[in-house]
Amino acid sequence: MPTHEPDLENLQRTADHWATWQRDLPVTRGVYNDWGDHPTVFQAVMRHAFGRADIDFFSFLKERYPRCSQGHALSLCCGDGAFEEQLLQSGVFGQITGLELSPQRIAHGKSRMSQGNDDEISRLQFLQQDVNLGRYGEQCFDVVFAKAALHHIEQLEQAMDGIRRCLRPGGLLITIDFFGPSRFQWTEAQLDACNWFWTHRVPTHLHRGHDGRAVGAITRPTVDAMIEMDPSEAVRSGELHSMLRDQFDVLDDFALGGTVVHLLLSGGRVNHFDASNPLHNAVLEEAVTFEQQLISSGALNSDFRFVVAKPRARE
Ligand SMILES: C[S@@+](CC[C@H](N)C(=O)[O-])C[C@H]1O[C@@H](n2cnc3c(N)ncnc32)[C@H](O)[C@@H]1O
Repeated sequence: MPTHEPDLENLQRTADHWATWQRDLPVTRGVYNDWGDHPTVFQAVMRHAFGRADIDFFSFLKERYPRCSQGHALSLCCGDGAFEEQLLQSGVFGQITGLELSPQRIAHGKSRMSQGNDDEISRLQFLQQDVNLGRYGEQCFDVVFAKAALHHIEQLEQAMDGIRRCLRPGGLLITIDFFGPSRFQWTEAQLDACNWFWTHRVPTHLHRGHDGRAVGAITRPTVDAMIEMDPSEAVRSGELHSMLRDQFDVLDDFALGGTVVHLLLSGGRVNHFDASNPLHNAVLEEAVTFEQQLISSGALNSDFRFVVAKPRARE
């Protein structure tokens, strides 16, 4: 397996982007950052994915993979570890080592945890490292967990090899991630569906944000603009699903959608929708159903997926 030299300039740009994101979080808190933050959307997606209203990622993993509750997980691109803390509190995993590029995100996580209880402090550790290196150790984890993580990896071959090597026999890869077009190069069908729904199904008063400005058509960013913003963003996301299926035995694979709704609510649009307003919620429910129908019929792929897999034995 060749070792690729890291592009230090891009790596620094990525780290700076996420340090700024972390720094601005107190300012942006109270508004939704992303489509999945909206409670109406989240619940509708869970209902469609699991076919039940009373289930989410935590309860699903605890029910179906109870052995993980005693296990040690490596969490790739863990950010400030907030989700990892929830995984520990819910008893999904016994211990987590979080791997993250941004020292500021790690510092923020450690400072938040120092105000919590000692039990969690001892069960969540951070490691500052470039995930592309694939240096995760040898047979030392029961699970590799990756939430919004795999789509930030450029050296996927190295990382996949690292995942395989660091898992103990019987170990699992559990991922909740973006598998859509690399560098957000949205398909024509996807853009057509989004813009049709925005124009014809979203009432015009919801086209305006709190500042009164109307939002225009949903468009495809340029690759240069994507790299400028964050060189790691969706760097090879379009290759992920087939790569996983080639190298792993997939035990569970849920289509979470996002192909329409993620774009529909991007650029701050998610904050046009008040979660306490039944009319706003009805529009969001309809959008999730619309998207799921397009995915079920094969007209669109699911950009977001929840996958549990184990490395396929090599011949
Ligand atoms: C979308 S955030 C996800 C964070 C967290 N997993 C979550 O779901 O909230 C992506 C994270 O990946 C980190 N990241 C990007 N490139 C990385 C790299 N090469 N090595 C390690 N972490 C990286 C970023 O700093 C950022 O914290």
